[in-house]
Amino acid sequence: MALSYQPDNQSMNNTNSQADKTFSNPLQDGKELIADPCILVIFGASGDLTSRKLIPALFNLRKNGQLPSSFACVGFARREKNHEEFRDELKGKIEQFSRTKPSDDQDIDSFLDMIYYHSSNFEENKGYEHLDLFLKDLDKKYGTKGNRIYYLSVQPSYFLPIIEKLHAHDLVYSKDAKDKFSRVIIEKPFGHNIESASSLQNSLTKHLSEEQIYRIDHYLGKETVQNLLVFRFSNTIFEGLWNNRYIDNIQITVSESIGIEGRGGFYEEQGLLRDIIQNHLMQLLSLVAMEPPINLSPNSIRDEKVKVVQAIRPFPEQALKEDVIRGQYINGFIEGEEAIAYRNEDKVANGSQVETFCAMKMFVENWRWAGVPFYIRAGKRLPKRCTEIAVTFKKVPNILFHKNDKHNTPNCIIFRIQPNEGTSIKFNSKVPGGANIIQPVTMDFQYDNYFGKEVPEAYERLIFDCILGDSTLFARFDESYNSWKLLTPVLNSWQNAPLTNNNFYQCGTWGPQASDQLLERDGRSWKTL
Ligand code: BG6
Repeated sequence: MALSYQPDNQSMNNTNSQADKTFSNPLQDGKELIADPCILVIFGASGDLTSRKLIPALFNLRKNGQLPSSFACVGFARREKNHEEFRDELKGKIEQFSRTKPSDDQDIDSFLDMIYYHSSNFEENKGYEHLDLFLKDLDKKYGTKGNRIYYLSVQPSYFLPIIEKLHAHDLVYSKDAKDKFSRVIIEKPFGHNIESASSLQNSLTKHLSEEQIYRIDHYLGKETVQNLLVFRFSNTIFEGLWNNRYIDNIQITVSESIGIEGRGGFYEEQGLLRDIIQNHLMQLLSLVAMEPPINLSPNSIRDEKVKVVQAIRPFPEQALKEDVIRGQYINGFIEGEEAIAYRNEDKVANGSQVETFCAMKMFVENWRWAGVPFYIRAGKRLPKRCTEIAVTFKKVPNILFHKNDKHNTPNCIIFRIQPNEGTSIKFNSKVPGGANIIQPVTMDFQYDNYFGKEVPEAYERLIFDCILGDSTLFARFDESYNSWKLLTPVLNSWQNAPLTNNNFYQCGTWGPQASDQLLERDGRSWKTL
């Protein structure tokens, strides 16, 4: 049966005319969805994200027949170039980065025909006047009915100036606009700390309603991340055990072997906590720990996620010293290749204090999770790329089979977010033979083996959802706010505490020793990845 929902307006004052429409929620049923006509304007179209992720995502959406039949895309950036030059550049990038390759020239050219370029400074009125006229022409040509999606893939300092200009030139509509919509997708980071995030929100909401703001966290677009909800709430056998009575600890790791990839300037401003922990990692934690939502509407799901973050115990002063570990990489080797220290990367200060690794112990203080530690860690230049959630259960009592077995291996469920996407369950089994020998075995589910089809890129799903007006997989402001509320004191505590020798780790290792000691103190260790 195809189910549908009305976006619920209990938590947020939802009066957007588009939000009143009934949509089919993709998490809810397998129905084909029809997207409304629209024009997507990408600010920062000369950047890496556009050519590596956004344009290939549009290419694949079109291939799958998911783009509206009336659709056009305009790249907005400062560099002077014409439509043809822009298309030529993108052609090579699609061939290089798209998960499916164009079948022939016709395939790619017909796609590029609906991509345009508009060059202007982000602060120049003229640029927006021309944009307005241009978009109106495209409306006539493509039948896009004035519907607009603006994707802000720009430095955070431009978020507000761009929205102000769009507003001043009537390029964003009021939430009450009839028969047309405007939505804005904002890349992270949303703010720099709790104060700046709140101030940005206050300024943005002078021109946009919360329902028009789509804060992107591409982790939420990953199939394996969406599957956390399905795994937990569409099976009976796990949910009953999902609490402090049965679970000993939960570990979440976002490990990358790459460094900062030429983004020295960005990293010097942000650091790893803002880049990965405040958003991607906190989203994973919320999905693992949340209560079942009352339905699958965007607000019901986000209401439950935000409660998890609100329930995390703030770090007392002592915990800031003991339970939060930061690190920065120094020279080392990754897969046999020499890798340079963070401080020697381009655009990084010699004495930089910025963290490229972080590990923490957190407690979600509610009835379900009281007493269960959540150990989280993320880092650059670690031995391999691997994002995993490991849920470790309590050991059985040493009474029957484990009397003489000092190992007593606990059950464990591992969600492999990437790579080798899948889920595995570890349990004990009798080794065949006369002796009562017990050995842990693993039951494993792998997406590609099982479903035999490629998993779509996160950006495909998220752009498609925004066109549909479904914000389920985007972060609501209170999620971001509460995450900043928890983590701003951590950032503040680092400000006057320079890195010491204990904070440095060699490229190709699992971070500073203190990260292992964090678990050793509790008689535990990080799961081997
Ligand atoms: C981005 C961060 O949001 O996520 C990068 O800015 C990071 O620093 C990237 O490398 C990781 O994404 P993924 O999808 O490769 O895990």
